[in-house]
Amino acid sequence: MKKIGLIGTGMLGTAVGLHLLESGFQVTSYNRTTEKTKILENKGAQIVPSPKEVAENSEIVITVVKDANAVKQVSFESDGIIFGKHENLIVCDMSTISPLDSKMISKKFLDNSIVMLDIPVMGGPNVAINGELVMMVAGNKLAFEKCKEIFDVIANKVFFLGESGTAHAIKLAMNLQIAMLALALSEGILLSKAAKIDPKVFLEILNSTYFKTGMSENKAYKMIRDNFEATFTLENLKKDINTIFETARSYGLELPMTKVAKETYENAVKEGFGNLDYTGVLAFLKKLNEHN
Ligand SMILES: NC(=O)c1ccc[n+]([C@@H]2O[C@H](COP(=O)([O-])OP(=O)(O)OC[C@H]3O[C@@H](n4cnc5c(N)ncnc54)[C@H](OP(=O)(O)O)[C@@H]3O)[C@@H](O)[C@H]2O)c1
Repeated sequence: MKKIGLIGTGMLGTAVGLHLLESGFQVTSYNRTTEKTKILENKGAQIVPSPKEVAENSEIVITVVKDANAVKQVSFESDGIIFGKHENLIVCDMSTISPLDSKMISKKFLDNSIVMLDIPVMGGPNVAINGELVMMVAGNKLAFEKCKEIFDVIANKVFFLGESGTAHAIKLAMNLQIAMLALALSEGILLSKAAKIDPKVFLEILNSTYFKTGMSENKAYKMIRDNFEATFTLENLKKDINTIFETARSYGLELPMTKVAKETYENAVKEGFGNLDYTGVLAFLKKLNEHN
C-alpha cells in the first residue's frame, strides 16, 4: 500500500503527512481551508478539492479533523469519502472522538461497504514529524493487519485493542491525564510564585522525584516563560474533556476531577484562551488570580 489519502491538514495532519511523504508514500490530501495544504503541496503531496477525490486516489484514507461532526462531514456529506469508494479502500480515523461516535461512524461506513478503523494517537506534531506517535487501533482485525506496515511508519508503538470504540475509550483516558497534568503543573507554578519561590526551583525539585512527567520535564519550562505556542490547542482539549465527561456519564461513572477540569477548560475558552496551547490554562488561571 503506497497511496495514502490524508483529510485534515491541521497541526497533526500536516506533521503526519510530511512524515509519510518523507518515508516515500504518495499522499493525496484535502483540507476544508485550502491554504492549509500548502506545506504538504510544497513537499510533493497532491492536493484535491474534495474528500471524494482523496478516496478515489488512495488505498488508505486517514482522517485527522477536529471532532465527530467534522469526521461525519468529510465522510458522508456531498463529495464525502463514501462517494469515492472502491474495492480496496480502508478508512482510518485519527481524530479524537467519542467511542459512541466512532461506533456509529464505522457502522455507517460498513453500511456503505467500507471498512473503517479507529486510530487515535498520543503525541503531537513534534513527534508525528518523526513517526513517533503512539497509536491505539480498534475495528476489523484483518484490516488492521493490512494497514499495520503503514501504522508502523506513523507510530513507534501500535496497540490493537479490539472492536470499534475501544481505542477511543483508552484515548480519552489518556487525554484525561493530559488535562489533569496541565492543571496540576499550572497550580503548582502559581503556588510557587505566590510563595516567592522561582517556579524553576519548583520544577527542579519535582523533576528530582518519582512524580516527574514528560510534561514537567519539557513543556513546563515553556509554561514558566509564558510560551504557549500551540501544538495541541486548549480549544481541542476542552472538546476532549467534554467528550470524556459525556462518555463517563454514558458508562454511569461519576468522575469528580473531570467535572472540575471541564469547567476550568470551558471557562478558559470562554475567556479567549482557546487558541493557545492547552498548557495556556496557566495563563487563564493567572488571569483568575490577577488580584494577587
Ligand atoms: N495536536 C495534537 O497534539 C493532537 C494529538 C492527538 C490527537 N489530536 C486530535 O487530532 C485532531 C486534529 O487535531 P489538530 O491538532 O491537527 O487540530 P487543528 O490544527 O485545530 O486542525 C483541525 C482540522 O480539522 C479540520 N476541521 C475542523 N472542522 C471541520 C469540519 N467541520 N469539516 C472539515 N474539516 C474540519 C480543520 O480544517 P480547517 O483548516 O478548514 O479549519 C483542520 O484541518 C483533533 O481531533 C485532535 O483532538 C491532536
